[in-house]
Amino acid sequence: MEHQHHSRGQWGSNLGFLLATVGAAVGLGNIWAFPYKMGANGGFAFLILYLILAILVGFPIMISELAMGRKVGRSVVVTYQSMSKRFGWIGWLAMLSPFLILSFYSVLGAYCMEYVALNVRELLGLAELPLASGADSFSAMLTDPASSVLYTLLFLLICFLIIRGGIKDGIERFNTVGMPALFIMLLAVIVRAVTLPGAAEGLAFMFRPNLQPLRDNFIKVLAAAGGQMFFSLSLAMGITVTYGSYLNRKESLVRNSLLIILSDTLVAVMAGIAVLPAAFALGGEGANMAGPKLLFITLQDVFHSMGASGPLFGILFYLLVLIAAVTSAIALIEVLVTFFVDRAEMEHRKPNRPRLVGIVCLAILAEAVVVALDGLGSNGLWIPFASTGRPFASSWLDFMGCISEGLAMPLGALLMSVMVAWVVKPSAIRDEVTREGNSFQSYRFFSFCIRFVVPVIMVLVLLGQLNEFFGLGLFSA
Ligand code: PHE
Repeated sequence: MEHQHHSRGQWGSNLGFLLATVGAAVGLGNIWAFPYKMGANGGFAFLILYLILAILVGFPIMISELAMGRKVGRSVVVTYQSMSKRFGWIGWLAMLSPFLILSFYSVLGAYCMEYVALNVRELLGLAELPLASGADSFSAMLTDPASSVLYTLLFLLICFLIIRGGIKDGIERFNTVGMPALFIMLLAVIVRAVTLPGAAEGLAFMFRPNLQPLRDNFIKVLAAAGGQMFFSLSLAMGITVTYGSYLNRKESLVRNSLLIILSDTLVAVMAGIAVLPAAFALGGEGANMAGPKLLFITLQDVFHSMGASGPLFGILFYLLVLIAAVTSAIALIEVLVTFFVDRAEMEHRKPNRPRLVGIVCLAILAEAVVVALDGLGSNGLWIPFASTGRPFASSWLDFMGCISEGLAMPLGALLMSVMVAWVVKPSAIRDEVTREGNSFQSYRFFSFCIRFVVPVIMVLVLLGQLNEFFGLGLFSA
């Protein structure tokens, strides 16, 4: 299986591939998790630690995924199966996680659309005065299951229309417009945010070097940084394997990996500069600074406080987050679609891509409807394990997030790195990286990291995620 399968399609250019992969990496995590984690875990020191982990752990995993994907030129399941007979089943974990994540990612995307619509109504003066607070708007949205389901449907319809077009004419084309647009919108929001009164406090919260959290509990900070890094880079999700399988042999995997990591980190830092000053300007330390509440309560209040221009910035901001969600969602969906397209091809049937995309999107819609109806636990829906009182059982979103982000993703990444290091062997990765004459000067570094550093850190990340999502009370100093 050494040849590439051109009938499946390919990226039109390396830039298109890069924008799509950065689009897959840049998502809600960059906007609502990174800035706060950075501020709460040591500021500038956390950023440095994050970058070190990105190079020691993120880079080796990413380059391995790209190389295996490109070498086999097939879906993530077939890729892992052909890399190892015994560990091939790990590929199924990399299909399960995207499917579960999509159940709530689609709903969060839908919420962004509802907030765009809300701000459009406010801009046009159609919203009732006095305007509802962010908290009221949010709870009104959560307890309106009909519109949540409708917008979820709309979100998945958009994804369907993009992915149906294929790798080059669908996914690449959307990212080539969407990612630069996202970047420009982010710059516009930053300019507004840093000129708000009180902005300095938010910037200080994020950047001020604060070594105390590291001294208090270094392992905990390390697990937090590692977890954020590997979620943010969308590793062990089949995405990088899948996108890599459509990449031309002559492109440099080393350079691409580094550019993806740097761009993702840059956007995360920029998102912090856009979001935290605004949140602090309004709410001070007491406001909600992370997660859905930051996005849909605190920031909506910030837009209200801006007066006449508020709704305009609101539209800009929620549109930006929406693009970030769409470009991640289409990557997740393509992991599943590629599996079915390749299976048809390998069985010598002619794949009907639009039909397969439609079926996959319908299956996602089915699980997303449950999350949408649940409205973050607001609507009295039955929730698995609710009686245990565990944090993961407070809503369907938490439940799905916990199986995927808490368990399947870090476990998949750990197993995958062990497989690359000891079964596939680093030299196989090198052979693919250098196949068309590209150099791999960092090979010894890569080989060392993937064998010794990555597994250790991934065990820690797994424990950290289990701890966070299941409330185990580990690491308490
Ligand atoms: N990387 C995305 C983020 O930072 C989230 C994500 C994870 C998307 C895994 C797809 C797959 O928000």
